[in-house]
Amino acid sequence: MLSAVLVCCCALVSCKTKKTKMAVGFAQEGDENAWRIAETQSVQAEAARRETDLHLASAQGDVEKQIGAVRTFIAQRVDAIILAPKVETGWTPVLKEAKDANIPVILIDRGVSASPDLYATLIESDFVEEGRRAAQWLAEHTRGQEVNIVELEGSAGSAPAIDRKKGFDEQIKASPKLHILASQDGNFTREGGKQVMTNFLLTLGAERINAVYCHNDDMALGAIQAIEAAGKKPGHDIKILSIDGIHDGIQAVLDKKINCIVECNPLLGSDAFDAIEAILLDHKTLPKKMTEKDALFDESNVTKELLDSRKY
Ligand code: AHR
Repeated sequence: MLSAVLVCCCALVSCKTKKTKMAVGFAQEGDENAWRIAETQSVQAEAARRETDLHLASAQGDVEKQIGAVRTFIAQRVDAIILAPKVETGWTPVLKEAKDANIPVILIDRGVSASPDLYATLIESDFVEEGRRAAQWLAEHTRGQEVNIVELEGSAGSAPAIDRKKGFDEQIKASPKLHILASQDGNFTREGGKQVMTNFLLTLGAERINAVYCHNDDMALGAIQAIEAAGKKPGHDIKILSIDGIHDGIQAVLDKKINCIVECNPLLGSDAFDAIEAILLDHKTLPKKMTEKDALFDESNVTKELLDSRKY
């Protein structure tokens, strides 16, 4: 009898546990580089720490697949959705569906062009400022010299590719000795960076290129391979500017192959779940945008200790 009562109680407890556990869908745009893998792991780790049931879907760079993942989360009646959108446009219908289903959407790392009424908040770095800071660094470290730059852009239509270009261009216009020779999409990958840089070196000539501005570290690491294959010294013959601050990027600054990296923090899991709890448990309305504070790395502040302390 006692054992029957215990079984019954345990069943009730486990049933209650299941009901009270929060379910969160995470629609990740892909896993194309170390930064994005670090972001996914940060969300997974935070979900585990808070004993949340995480539904993870990586769209592997396919926008339609990512929209489909959000729809699946809505159908599963999750409590909240975290979305790292591949591109800025095309989100209005599915965000409306989430809103109608009363499921808050937290955007992380990339923004969308849809109305801010359709999502709860956006947690991101200031991409325009990242581009500005990279160009400012170049202007300050090449004073008086004419500098020809090539640009390796992030994937077309993504918020970081659009805004990092915008910020960089703004500052270049204010610096008469800095000139952009060519810009091309390197898809935020090491292979893409290598291919585009190889092409620039062939078509424009290695002697004409003084600097390369890469929208992320993985493309910069690919560009280094292309520059070395062309018999030039990255960081010396051709200055390299980048964004992110992944472990391999910081190592390249220590090795004097990358000159400057503007940090972009992928460890957004904790902030994303804080936002979800503030909305669902404390019934708070959040600001539409929460901006991360990022550092700038160059030979003046990068040390072995800093490298060892990097979490991504
Ligand atoms: O949205 C952030 C950018 O996307 C990171 O800089 C890049 O590495 C990633 O793919």
